[in-house]
This record gives sequence, structure tokens and C-alpha cells, in this order.
Amino acid sequence: MNEEEYYGLIRPYEDAQQMLLTRLDVLNHSLYGEAQSRPIHNIQDRIKSRVSIEEKLKRKEKEVTVENAKDYLQDIAGIRVICYFVDDLYNLLGILKQQSDLIVIRERDYIANPKPNGYRSYHLIIGVPVYCLDGMEYFPVEVQFRTLSMDFWASMEHRVSYKKNREDRERLTVELRNYAEMLVRVEKRFEMYNENAKQQTVSHEEGTAGGVKDADAD
Ligand code: GTP
Ligand code: MG
Repeated sequence: MNEEEYYGLIRPYEDAQQMLLTRLDVLNHSLYGEAQSRPIHNIQDRIKSRVSIEEKLKRKEKEVTVENAKDYLQDIAGIRVICYFVDDLYNLLGILKQQSDLIVIRERDYIANPKPNGYRSYHLIIGVPVYCLDGMEYFPVEVQFRTLSMDFWASMEHRVSYKKNREDRERLTVELRNYAEMLVRVEKRFEMYNENAKQQTVSHEEGTAGGVKDADAD
């Protein structure tokens, strides 16, 4: 894949990613209304580099071509949404999934079902419509929803497991899984201070349409 082919490939993925970033930004300041705290701490995004695309195709034992990249890779565009609270994270992705022009290509809830090593995160591959001269095509964007605590663990795990020598691996795996469990407990404690979740409980009790819908109306 030469430079020109690479930039031709990623162009519509950039458009799809940009559109989702805008949607997330709108949701961030409208989900609970302007007066409440925003659910998102920060958002990261990246387009897979040419080298990473080539490496991943080789790992999958596919020839390195633009067609194969489009056919076999669903994470050319990636967004990571870091929230404060688990409840807010589910509210946010629930609303995004309902947006009628987007399609859910794949969904993995590693929060309800963490990976055996302790990894937690909610992965959504969303198809975003991109319009060009010859019509519309859906392009996939991988969105990882995490809390700060999940992101802390995943970033540290990535950092320390990467270079570690083999003999050490089993002990390290156990240690990291313990930290993941500790962080779940800490996160649950912080969850009790989530004003947005509380507000929702209150509005349910009042018999209204619920906190999220309520906030949307103002
Ligand atoms: P890939 O071939 O890596 O895309 O795996 P997959 O298609 O099975 O997707 P999955 O949803 O399991 O993981 C995709 C991405 O999630 C990875 O590229 C990482 O960014 C992240 N991820 C998944 N598992 C782990 C993990 O154990 N540790 C860390 N730090 N990140 C992970
Ligand atoms: Mg992937």
C-alpha cells in the first residue's frame, strides 16, 4: 500500500470519525441539560497508521491491499470516550445507538463481562453513513467507552505487560487482575456520588419520562 492509496483509504474513515465526534460532543453537553455535570471526562481519537494497518493484515494472513483493509479491519477509525461514571457511560451509548442513521455493526460489553485478565470497557463498532458522489456507504468506527478507572487500568496494563519477560508473566497477570477488582470496588464507591444518576432516580419516582428524556427537553 503506497502513500497515495493509504490517504485515499482513510479519507472516508476520517469523515465518519468526525461526524461521531460531533455527535458525542452534542450529547456531552445535552444529556443531562446544561445545568448538570457533563458525563464525559475526555475523548481520544486516532486513525490507524499505515504501518499498523499493514501489520494487522499480515497478522490476519491477508494480502496488504486497500480492499482487504476495508473488508477485514473495523478499527481503522477509533474513538475512546472516557467517562466519570459507569451509569453515565451506559446512558450515553444507549442514546448514541438509538440515533436512527447510525447502525450497530458489533457490540461487546466487557463491563458486564470483563475479559479474564480484568480488562473492562464497552466496545461498539458503529457504521456511519458517508455520502459521496456515487451514493452512500457505511464506514465503521470503533468506539471504546470507558470510565477513568477502566482507562487507567487498561493504559497501565498495556504499558507493563508489553515488555515484561516470560517468567514473570503469570505472577503479573494475577497482580493486574487483583488491581482490576480493587478498581471496581473503588468505582462503585464513587458511583454513590453520581449526581446525574441520583437525579434520574428522583425523576423516575416522580413518574416522569425519566432523567435522560427530561434533560433532553430543556
Ligand atoms: P483486535 O484484533 O485487537 O481488534 O481484537 P478484537 O477484534 O477481538 O476486538 P476487542 O474488542 O477484543 O479489542 C479491541 C481493542 O480493545 C484493542 O485494540 C485494545 O485497544 C482494546 N483491548 C482489548 N483487550 C485489551 C486488554 O486486555 N488490554 C488492553 N490494555 N486493551 C485491550
Ligand atoms: Mg479491533
